[in-house]
Amino acid sequence: MIGIFDSGSGGLTVLKAIRDELPSADILYLGDIGRAPYGEKTSAELSLFTMQALSFLGKRGVTSIVSACNSVSASLALSLYDALDIQASHIIEMVGPTAKALIGVPGRLLLVATPATIRAGIYENAFTMLGIECEHLTLPELAAMIEFGRSEAEIEAYIRTQLEPRAGSFDVLILACTHYPLVEHIFAKVVGSSVRIFDPALAVAERAQRRLWPQEVGDGTLSFTVTQETLQFRERVAHFFGEHPVEVIALEQLHPPTSRAQ
Ligand code: DGL
Repeated sequence: MIGIFDSGSGGLTVLKAIRDELPSADILYLGDIGRAPYGEKTSAELSLFTMQALSFLGKRGVTSIVSACNSVSASLALSLYDALDIQASHIIEMVGPTAKALIGVPGRLLLVATPATIRAGIYENAFTMLGIECEHLTLPELAAMIEFGRSEAEIEAYIRTQLEPRAGSFDVLILACTHYPLVEHIFAKVVGSSVRIFDPALAVAERAQRRLWPQEVGDGTLSFTVTQETLQFRERVAHFFGEHPVEVIALEQLHPPTSRAQ
C-alpha cells in the first residue's frame, strides 16, 4: 500500500495524478489539517511532523511513501529512513522529480511556494546543481486560504497582489506547493495565456509509477484520514474520487507516547 501525506487537501492533486498512473494501487492518504498550514512552521516542527506521519503510515501497513508536501521536503533529506526501517527507494518526494522535469524547459522560470519551502532552499540547490535558472517567490497565506475555503474572489485578489510586481518577468510559473493546483484556474486568469503553468504532480506520479509498479499492485482501494474534519476536504475528495468515507483521527495518534515508562 502507498501512503501519501500532506498538511491537508493539497496532496489530493498529487494523489489524483498517481491514481491516473497507478489505478490498481491501494493508497492511504493522510491530511494533517489539524496542524495546517505547514508552510508557516519551523524546520524542527516540520521534521517532527514528517517523522510522525511516516511512523503513522508505517503502522497502518504502508510499504511506500509519497510526500505530497513541498514544505516538508527538507525533512525528508534527513537520514531518517534507517530509524524508521524504510528504504530510501520507497520514498518519493516532490523536489527531485520536479527539478528533473524542468531541465531544458525554455523561458524564464518563477517558482511560487510556501515560506518553509523557500527557506529550506532545497529547490534552489537542486536548480543550481542542474544549471536551471529560476526566481523564487513565497505566497505566505495562500495555502491556508485554499485549505480553509476562502472565496475565489479573495484568493484571486491575493494572488494578483503578490504576482503583480513580477508581471512580465516570467514565462513559466511553477506551482511548488501542492495546494496551488487546486486554484490553477485562478493563477491562469491572473498571469494570462502567455505564461505556462507547471504543476509538478505529473512528474511525481510518473516517478511513482516507474518506482512502485508492479510491487504496489492491489485492488485500487483509496482511504482517507485527517486530523481535523472540514467540509472542504470532503468536497474535494468527492470531486476528485467520488464519495469516500473520511476517517478523523485525534492529533494524539500522530504523537505516539515517548515516555520510557510506556
Ligand atoms: N501543500 C503543502 C506544500 O506543498 C503544504 C502547504 C501548507 O500547509 O502550508 O507545501
